[in-house]
Amino acid sequence: MGRMMIVNASPRAPRSNSKRIIERFQAYWAEAAGLYPTISNKHEQALADLQGCSDLLLVFPLYADSPPSTLLGFLKALSAASISPKPAVHVIINCGFIEPEQNLVALDIIRFFCRQNGFPFGSTLSIGSGEAILDTPFSFLVWRKLKKFAAAVRNRQPVHLQTAMPIPKKWFIAASTNYWIQYGQKNGIDKQQMQTMEIEGGVLPPKQ
Ligand SMILES: Cc1cc2nc3c(=O)[nH]c(=O)nc-3n(C[C@H](O)[C@H](O)[C@H](O)COP(=O)(O)O)c2cc1C
Repeated sequence: MGRMMIVNASPRAPRSNSKRIIERFQAYWAEAAGLYPTISNKHEQALADLQGCSDLLLVFPLYADSPPSTLLGFLKALSAASISPKPAVHVIINCGFIEPEQNLVALDIIRFFCRQNGFPFGSTLSIGSGEAILDTPFSFLVWRKLKKFAAAVRNRQPVHLQTAMPIPKKWFIAASTNYWIQYGQKNGIDKQQMQTMEIEGGVLPPKQ
């Protein structure tokens, strides 16, 4: 087995679902692996550390049907760097909606990046209901797939896995709506306020 670098590209890396997923992955991987949270914005150092790695694992949330900008900056730096040999790129992506298929376009974006830049594309794990599932009795579904994913990376036999909470969409929407209303109440914001374009006293500019 070669060396691995794990990139946490969540904009809220220190308290992210991505972080929890990475911690569990490391337990299954059972080898030392470098860890780089992209919000620390030390791409140059991270790319130097990537030299000689056989595997690069990107872990990130879905933002507006895409990889977050905190990953795009790193990918831009990666495409400009001369890394040799090129590590195989693996992806774990989690999204808030229940359907793991929501992540497919973002996965295609990374696949395309790899093809354009000559990186071998490895295994993927797509997680739906990512904001909720880790704190429910269904978390074992994520850990089970993660264990399979780690084994596939180790054996160099790429897999493309997905998982989510196995409940009807209607229940999920009702439960998540309740959750966010209560979350807003704790922060002194009601449902109507959450439905406006106002963010922390400012208003988003109108669409061009
Ligand atoms: C700005 C923003 C955009 C998001 N866009 C989507 C989206 O398009 N689809 C989706 O299913 N979830 C979306 N989410 C939810 C996140 O993917 C979800 O909360 C995820 O679990 C966060 O992972 P993290 O804790 O690792 O950052 C969005 C969240 C934020 C804050």
